[in-house]
Amino acid sequence: MAKSARRVALGVTGSIAAFKTAAIVRGLVKRGAEVRCILTPNAARFVAPLSLAVLSRHAVADVADPSLWEMAHLSLASWADLVLVAPATADFLARLAAGRAEGLLDGLILSTRATVAVCPAMDAEMWEHPATQANAARLRDYGYQVWGPARGELASGKVGMGRLLEPEEIVRLALK
Ligand SMILES: Cc1cc2nc3c(=O)[nH]c(=O)nc-3n(C[C@H](O)[C@H](O)[C@H](O)COP(=O)(O)O)c2cc1C
Repeated sequence: MAKSARRVALGVTGSIAAFKTAAIVRGLVKRGAEVRCILTPNAARFVAPLSLAVLSRHAVADVADPSLWEMAHLSLASWADLVLVAPATADFLARLAAGRAEGLLDGLILSTRATVAVCPAMDAEMWEHPATQANAARLRDYGYQVWGPARGELASGKVGMGRLLEPEEIVRLALK
């Protein structure tokens, strides 16, 4: 379990739900957690790194900045009590399940001994696909926690499984 996580390395991937990460950062900081954000390049198309830097009060790990790259790979992996990925795309779950270290965030997760939790967010069809289900099962086998997704209204306008857990619920799980 994510026991009294105070230092949270918060990964963000390229889901339409990434705008909700701002509320997660805000909630974590409000409750006394230290947060460092690591975005995939696709995540930065959905949420402004500057917003997350301001809310977390720290620079966001950036693949284009070698000093921050170093920080993400070497320091954050041992610094964090919890590595939380919210939202986590189907593609990111697949990369984690395969043990890929393509980017900063996958590399960090492969390097860390901290608790890892992922919060999937995607269309119901993507979540229910056998490949995604197998990937999620494999992540659980690795000892990672899979929080959600929830059933509810999706970005497509349909209702189904795949909705990101509410930010308050993610904050609660991260700090319990
Ligand atoms: C408008 C738009 C919304 C998307 N929303 C999601 C999503 O909610 N969940 C998901 O798994 N993929 C979604 N995708 C696809 C991902 O962005 C794509 O798989 C990307 O390669 C993920 O990159 P990352 O996991 O490295 O951030 C979306 C793509 C677009 C163009």
